[in-house]
Amino acid sequence: MNKKILVTGGLGFIGSHTVVALQEKGFKVVIIDNLSNSSIDVLAGITKITGKEPEFERMDLRNKQEVKNFFQKYPDIEGVIHFAASKAVGESVENPLLYYENNLSTLVYILQELVERPKAHFIFSSSCTVYGQADNLPITENAPVKKAESPYGNTKQIGEEIIADTCKVHAGLKAISLRYFNPIGAHPSADIGELPIGTPQNLVPFITQTAIGKRKELSVFGDDYPTEDGTCIRDYIHVMDLARAHVVALQRLINGSEKSNYEVFNLGTGKGNSVLEVIKTFEESTGQRLPYKIAGRREGDVIAAYADTEKANKELGWKADLTLAEALQSAWKWQTVVEDKDL
Ligand code: UD1
Repeated sequence: MNKKILVTGGLGFIGSHTVVALQEKGFKVVIIDNLSNSSIDVLAGITKITGKEPEFERMDLRNKQEVKNFFQKYPDIEGVIHFAASKAVGESVENPLLYYENNLSTLVYILQELVERPKAHFIFSSSCTVYGQADNLPITENAPVKKAESPYGNTKQIGEEIIADTCKVHAGLKAISLRYFNPIGAHPSADIGELPIGTPQNLVPFITQTAIGKRKELSVFGDDYPTEDGTCIRDYIHVMDLARAHVVALQRLINGSEKSNYEVFNLGTGKGNSVLEVIKTFEESTGQRLPYKIAGRREGDVIAAYADTEKANKELGWKADLTLAEALQSAWKWQTVVEDKDL
């Protein structure tokens, strides 16, 4: 029988691509999403790509009773991939309690249900933000977790600790935290992609919206960093590669291949690119001109971050296959259709 997986935040950017990857591997999916930062139309995009409509429950995971009711309604759920969370760094500084509630109370309520079961499999969306500016590059999973720069970053650190502490005393709970580097791109069909609300804070959506004329120009945040061209370096990973990694991680837990009941993996390409390199690759791979100017540094930005991918390669048997150019092309294709979708 096909296993049923709960994907919270399954209509969001990484969530929706992961739902597609799960359904393509034969998993049945139930999505929980409160539509706070996503559109119900994403469901149609997923259905168009996979030919299967996932089950969908519009609900808010901050309601403990509803979480309880959900797990009673779906006793056959064999795994949970927990994406649902708020992710805007600036907003988290303005409204820390919203972030602690959204990102941590929901996690606790789900885990409280899972530990009641004899067996449970749990995948957590974490972030390379937990490393801050790492002392050594590339960043391995053993790099120390540094004091968080923002309440958002702190919720990822605390979230990981909550899971680790819970796994210590509940042997039936098996969990993996996936620390994403910089997810970009879209499904090649352009039926799903990233849907930033308002002005995008992240680089690639800002680039595509500028190229299409929605924004006047991109500001490059600082060109006086101690890097080759002076701009910051990040590890940009195609969301399709990232989505596949979630399926692999889940299968590891289901198959019992894990080394301990709580594990952590970096998900990146292992390659760092500067902001100027991203701009150049975007222009070359899409044929679009991108107006940009050099602006001041953005507070809280680390100079350089890219993943050591050895643990994920060896233990998960996973590596990112798609290039930066492919990711940027897919993000551009998505941008050209998204305007017409009225999402
Ligand atoms: C940001 C968050 C990080 C979060 C991640 C989620 C900050 C400081 N960090 O990471 O906590 O986990 O998003 O995806 O917000 N850039 C420009 N101009 C722009 C936008 C970005 O030059 O208009 C530069 C940034 O300075 C950075 C790079 O592009 O060097 C990537 O920025 P972004 O996409 O925001 O990702 P991170 O800052 O790495």
